[in-house]
Amino acid sequence: MRSRLQQGQVMGADAEFDASPTQNGEPVENVAVSPIGDQTFSAGAYESSGKVGVLRVLRSLAVDFPGTFRRIWLRVPRPVLASSGLRREQLAVRSGIKQYRADQARGHHRFLLRRNIHRLEKGLIMWPRRSEFGGDYIGVTVAAAVRVYGESAPLVSDAERQWVLGVLTSYFEVTRQSTSPSIRSAESTFARCFVAPNNGDELAGPHRHAIDVEGSGIDIDSLRRLAIGRRSVRWYEDKKVDRSVVDRAMEIARESPTACNRAPYRFEIIDSDSGVQEVAECAMGTGGYAHQIPAIVVLVGDLSAFFHERDRHLIYIDSSLAAMAFVLGLEVQGVASCMINWPDIPERDARMRRLLGLADTERVIMLIAYGYADAERLVPFSAKGSLDEIRAFGRI
Ligand SMILES: Cc1cc2nc3c(=O)[nH]c(=O)nc-3n(C[C@H](O)[C@H](O)[C@H](O)COP(=O)(O)O)c2cc1C
Repeated sequence: MRSRLQQGQVMGADAEFDASPTQNGEPVENVAVSPIGDQTFSAGAYESSGKVGVLRVLRSLAVDFPGTFRRIWLRVPRPVLASSGLRREQLAVRSGIKQYRADQARGHHRFLLRRNIHRLEKGLIMWPRRSEFGGDYIGVTVAAAVRVYGESAPLVSDAERQWVLGVLTSYFEVTRQSTSPSIRSAESTFARCFVAPNNGDELAGPHRHAIDVEGSGIDIDSLRRLAIGRRSVRWYEDKKVDRSVVDRAMEIARESPTACNRAPYRFEIIDSDSGVQEVAECAMGTGGYAHQIPAIVVLVGDLSAFFHERDRHLIYIDSSLAAMAFVLGLEVQGVASCMINWPDIPERDARMRRLLGLADTERVIMLIAYGYADAERLVPFSAKGSLDEIRAFGRI
């Protein structure tokens, strides 16, 4: 495994169903390559600061050290060398990995379950499809399904349950011929614990892509009108948005793609006057208009969804995709909004963490103010760049 990595074959963020060796469902290179202490963070920080030339020289020499010394060198934790912002981020990433492992050890792991079901589903849609796959993580997946649905049933949506049961059912059908002990043993646990698939329960799983674009009434022109019509609105009417309107926008947001379908975020929606003021004042970018924001969302990412530091950016990526869908979902219902930056400032971060009672593994991603636009007030034009600036065809 190590030699594969030395050839630069580190798996990508979405390392899923593939032929890579795994251990309890997790790629083994995580263990082999990189310690939890993330040298990428600290190394970048001290290199750019230029303060520690000696360390830099030693580090550059490290490539010539024999393998063992080099690995030890790379494992030396260097939190002291990072700025306080990077250090806090590093701590959150570490806490996330630690929490992931703790959840994994007790077998109750929603993120692992979602990811593994997704991996199985990718195996099921593979063409040509193999008659045996996923044997190295099917056991842990079924065990997680048993735990998650046994202990957190009320939190899990029907759709998710139907998906988990549907994919597992299809998986055991497709791998029926396999004599792999792990697959057969997982199947008997599955059959013992879930009666639903034999009980006429509606199941979900791989299917043909069949979106009825014409029937939807949405075309490129209407989508363009929506995109151009939406603008960041900062002045609002003194009128609350009904929570059902927000939920309809959330239904759009949750359909956004997330890496391995983990959905490592939540929307904290604050709509009480006092709560909105406290939260809005925590942010920097609301100066001059915070006092009249009727409601605000704090988008929170959860790093306990990941077993490796390489995935640390996914909370930002996944939740931003959902944020945009949420904003458009509001917009088509006549509700305006404005994304609010969340700069990583220790005092503000501490205040927000206290307010929301955030766990060590959680990070604030951004805020979104929303409400009915005050028609008397103005909105910046915010011209966009040309396509030539932001896209390039066929460069390679
Ligand atoms: C991540 C992000 C952070 C932002 N932060 C702020 C902010 O702190 N305060 C603010 O008034 N607007 C903020 N905005 C809104 C931008 O200023 C706005 O999107 C940009 O000027 C383009 O205008 P438009 O949204 O109307 O197209 C933010 C937008 C994004 C995407």
